[in-house]
Amino acid sequence: MGSAGFLLAVTLLISHAFAESIIQISPHRKTRVDDGLYCDSWRFSVETNNAGVWYSIPSRCIPFVEDYMNGDRYLSDSQVVSSYGLDFANTVNVSSDGKDAWVFDIDETLLSNLPYYDAHGFGSEIFDEDSFDEWVDLAEAPALPASLKLYNELKQLGFKIFLLTGRSEFQRNVTGKNLLFSGYSGWEKLILRGPQDQGKLAVVYKSEKRQELVNEGYRIHGSSGDQWSDLQGFAVAERSFKLPNPMYFIA
Ligand SMILES: *[C@@H]1O[C@H](CO)[C@@H](O)[C@H](O)[C@H]1NC(C)=O
Ligand SMILES: *[C@@H]1O[C@H](CO)[C@@H](O)[C@H](O)[C@H]1NC(C)=O
Repeated sequence: MGSAGFLLAVTLLISHAFAESIIQISPHRKTRVDDGLYCDSWRFSVETNNAGVWYSIPSRCIPFVEDYMNGDRYLSDSQVVSSYGLDFANTVNVSSDGKDAWVFDIDETLLSNLPYYDAHGFGSEIFDEDSFDEWVDLAEAPALPASLKLYNELKQLGFKIFLLTGRSEFQRNVTGKNLLFSGYSGWEKLILRGPQDQGKLAVVYKSEKRQELVNEGYRIHGSSGDQWSDLQGFAVAERSFKLPNPMYFIA
């Protein structure tokens, strides 16, 4: 071993020992690092639906989800999803018959309920329908910026835009008001759960509503949603675009 090699080996040995001692003297930090790694892998599994049905964020991942949702990463992930959506939309020959359609979900897709979830543990608290409905009534959820951009570009390209939400018919007015407030306009139809849709799984209700559109002659090219139940089932879109949501799962 030359002297340079020896020096390098000694340096590596020292820095390795130093790193070890940092980990040993601050066990808290080591735990945080491990949580970050685990929670990033957990997030991958819920987003890809490898996790299947899940009910709450693992408690060790609540700080991770908070950082993710409030940081640049959530916005960046959403922008990349939307840009793939736009790339695809640009390959569609939009016909003059007005039957080329795109379906958007609303909550955590067009509108962000982050102000609500920020005050309610990022989905770690048991979902309270009454308090969520009070938030909906305020009609002040902001737009998810990446979705607003995609929405406007699709409109420019001539797509007919359908909004398909798990919200109920009694929330039609506040939902329309909120959409307008946050910058959306010109949708073809806003579809909410009617009395006959109550109690249905989202994946069934949304499939049935898409089927009605197909029966009316619409070609559903794209579908954007933060839940797999927005995208799967029957009468599915030609391409589906899954937005991130590590806060909650809807079957
Ligand atoms: C769109 O129309 C153009 C011109 O008619 C054609 O060349 C192209 O193959 C069509 N693309 C698709 C995806 O149908
Ligand atoms: C909500 O209802 C009010 C009062 O009936 C009406 O003026 C308003 O246009 C409605 N807003 C939307 C977005 O439908």
